[in-house]
Amino acid sequence: MDLIQTIMERRSIRAFKPDPVSREKVEEILNIAIQAPSAINLQPWEFTVMMGEEKERLSRKLVKLYREKQISCGPGNVKPLADSFTRRGVASFELMNPFLEQMGTDFNRFINEGSCNFYGAPTAIIICLDNAFSSARLVDIGIVLGYITLIAYNLGLGTCPIGLINAYADDMKELLNIPDNKDVVIGVALGYPDWDSPVNKFKTPRESLDNFVRWIE
Ligand SMILES: Cc1cc2nc3c(=O)[nH]c(=O)nc-3n(C[C@H](O)[C@H](O)[C@H](O)COP(=O)(O)O)c2cc1C
Repeated sequence: MDLIQTIMERRSIRAFKPDPVSREKVEEILNIAIQAPSAINLQPWEFTVMMGEEKERLSRKLVKLYREKQISCGPGNVKPLADSFTRRGVASFELMNPFLEQMGTDFNRFINEGSCNFYGAPTAIIICLDNAFSSARLVDIGIVLGYITLIAYNLGLGTCPIGLINAYADDMKELLNIPDNKDVVIGVALGYPDWDSPVNKFKTPRESLDNFVRWIE
């Protein structure tokens, strides 16, 4: 599959087959992903790959924490968002809702508990950044995250970035023995997509380019 087709078809996968992803396959994905550009070639990303029973243990802990603390997925803005941003989020929820109804679940439970469970994916990748870096280096983490999602899709796997784990970063660091000087930035659910699941069948829309570009000529 060529690059543009991969980009156009990739979507976040929220239902996975139980089939494990081999360590070799994860290595293949990460080996390609670390070809991503980074400022001054610092390559600041650090990956913790959770597989098998260890990943299940992490999921169980995160779901328990979610049930206790009830911190939900959200945009994490520091000021009220402009209507245009909110509209895009709401449009995506509305699109997803009928599929979730078909599955007999509701949005909040599915997304929040699902995120904490990495949507049942057999593998979870946790990406950390050394806290000696400034927040500018989150750009580099974002790029490698984007690469991982695309490479995985191109190789027949599916991913869902999991930002919600940030809310439980301290507990997670303790559980995974991540040192204090590393910040947990994002998680990625990784596995083979269950294409029969309604939730994987839709593709979120994008607004027209005119909404994003200002030309200065
Ligand atoms: C930084 C980041 C964090 C995200 N966190 C979550 C999450 O915690 N749970 C979830 O279900 N999806 C999460 N997503 C997936 C987005 O909801 C998804 O990318 C968006 O709705 C666009 O849909 P698409 O990926 O299918 O194109 C995250 C995506 C990004 C880029």
